[in-house]
Amino acid sequence: MKNTTILIALFLTYFVTAQTEIRLTTEPSDIKISKHIYGHFAEHLGRCIYGGFYVGEDSQIPNLDGVRTDIIAALKEMKIPNLRWPGGCFADTYHWKDGIGPKSDRPTMVNQWWGGVTEDNSFGTHDFLNLCEALETEPYISGNVGSGTVREFADWLQYVNHDGVSPMADLRRENGRDKPWNVRFWGLGNEAWGCGGNMTAEYYANLYRQYATYMTDWTNSQQMYRVASGASDGNYRWTEVLMKNIPKNLIEAVALHSYSVIDWGNKSSATAFSEKQYFQTMQRAFKMDEYITKHVAIMDQYDPERKIDLIVDEWGGWYDVEPGTNPGFLYQQNTIRDAMIAGMTLNIFNNHAQRVTMANLAQTVNVLQAVILTEGEKLILTPTYHVMKMYAVHQDAKLIPLSFDTPLFNFEGESLPALSASASQNEAGDIHISLVNIDSQMAHSVSIPLENLNSKKVSIEAIQSPKIQDHNTFEQPNKIEVKTFTDFNVKRDQIQFEIPAHSVLLIKIASK
Ligand code: AHR
Repeated sequence: MKNTTILIALFLTYFVTAQTEIRLTTEPSDIKISKHIYGHFAEHLGRCIYGGFYVGEDSQIPNLDGVRTDIIAALKEMKIPNLRWPGGCFADTYHWKDGIGPKSDRPTMVNQWWGGVTEDNSFGTHDFLNLCEALETEPYISGNVGSGTVREFADWLQYVNHDGVSPMADLRRENGRDKPWNVRFWGLGNEAWGCGGNMTAEYYANLYRQYATYMTDWTNSQQMYRVASGASDGNYRWTEVLMKNIPKNLIEAVALHSYSVIDWGNKSSATAFSEKQYFQTMQRAFKMDEYITKHVAIMDQYDPERKIDLIVDEWGGWYDVEPGTNPGFLYQQNTIRDAMIAGMTLNIFNNHAQRVTMANLAQTVNVLQAVILTEGEKLILTPTYHVMKMYAVHQDAKLIPLSFDTPLFNFEGESLPALSASASQNEAGDIHISLVNIDSQMAHSVSIPLENLNSKKVSIEAIQSPKIQDHNTFEQPNKIEVKTFTDFNVKRDQIQFEIPAHSVLLIKIASK
C-alpha cells in the first residue's frame, strides 16, 4: 500500500465515524418523567444562602424580603420544580426554632461543617417557604435526625402544615403566617452514615421508623412524602438494610448521593483541568447509571410493585475551590465539562424515570455545580443552568425509550460511550430528544429515522464551545448559552447531522 493510502485509511479510522442511528419506539411509554428530577438544593453553606439567595431586606441589590429578585427570575425561567433545604450536613445540626420569630431575637450558632462561620439564623423557615412560593416551586425540607429529637421534628411539621388550633400552628400565626404551607417532601436526616450521625444502616433504619411514626402531614388533602437518608455511590448494603427493615407504610422514597469527583484527595481545578482529568470526570459521572441500576435491582427485590422511589437528592461535579476562596465554602467555576455531566446525568435519570422520581443538583447558587454564580450585584448563569433550562421540556412528559449503538470516546486505552440520549413526548404531542456527545475530540455522525412519525417539523438547539474548559465569567457572561443549531438536514425520512465534540443538543420534532 502506498503511504498516501495508509494515511487516508488512518484518517478514516480516527476522524470519520460511522453514522449512529437513534431509533425512537413508535409509542411513548406509560412512564412519566417526573418534573422533580430537575430539582435543586440550597444549603446553609458558603455563599449559597447568605450572599447568594439572601442579601437581606436592606441590601441595595433588588430583593423580595431579602432574596435577590434576579435569582428568583432566573430560577423561574429555568422551571425549578423543587428546592431542598437547609442541608446537607447542615440539616443535622439545624434547630428550626432558632430560625423563626423576630430576626433580632434569633440565637446564633456555628456552622460546624462549612467554614466554622457564625450562622445568625436570619434565613429560616418562613424565609425559605415564602421563597418557594415566590419561585412557584415545591419545598423539600431535610429534618434533623442526627442531633435533633423526634418531638422537634414533629413540631416542625405541625408548624408548617397544621391549619387548626395547635401550639405550633398558633406560634406560626404569631409569627405572621396564617395559612399553612402544606409541605409534602420531608427528608429524615442526611447522610446518616456520615455527617448525619455516623450510624450503621441497622441503627438508622430503627431510628427512621421511630421518627416516621410521629410524622403526620396534618392535612387530608395530600400525601406526605418521607425520604430515608440514602447510600453514597455503590453502598448497596445500605439500601438493602433500609428496604428490608423499614415497613412500606412508613416510607415513600430512599435517597442516593453521588458526586462526580475524580479523587477526594486531589479533586483538581474546576477550570484548569487536563484532557485526562476531563475523561476521569466523565467516567465518574457515567457511573451514575450503574449505581442507579444496582440500587434499583435491590429495591425491586423488596418492593417489586415499585411503590418506593429512588431519589438522587445530591449529585454534581465537585472540584477544588476557586483559588483564594474559603475551602469550607465549596465555591467553584462551571465549564463545558459541567454541561456534559449535567446532560449525561439527566439523560440517565430520565431513562430510569420509573424508579427515579426526584433529584437535586448540588447546589443552586455559588456552591459546587451551581446554576448561578454571584459577585456583589453581578450574576451569571453557568453552562449547567443552560442545560437544566434546555431539558425542562422533559418535565412531566412521557418517556420514549430509544435504541442505538453509541460510538466510543477513547482515551489512553480506555473508553466510554460517547453519546447519551433520552426522549419524551409532551401533552401537545411534541417530541424532544436530548443528546450529549462527551467526546472531547470528535464529532459523531447521527441519524434519527422519522418514518413512523406524523410530523417532520424539526428544530435543534445546542450548547457548545470550542474548549472543554470554556465557561462564563462576570466579564464575559454569555460566552456559553443556548444557540439555534442549523447544521442538519431532513432527507429521506431521516434527520441527519454531526453532533459536535463536547456538546449538548436538544432536537424537537413538533407535532404541528
Ligand atoms: O453538598 C455538600 C455536602 O455534600 C452536603 O452537605 C452533604 O450532604 C454531602 O456530603
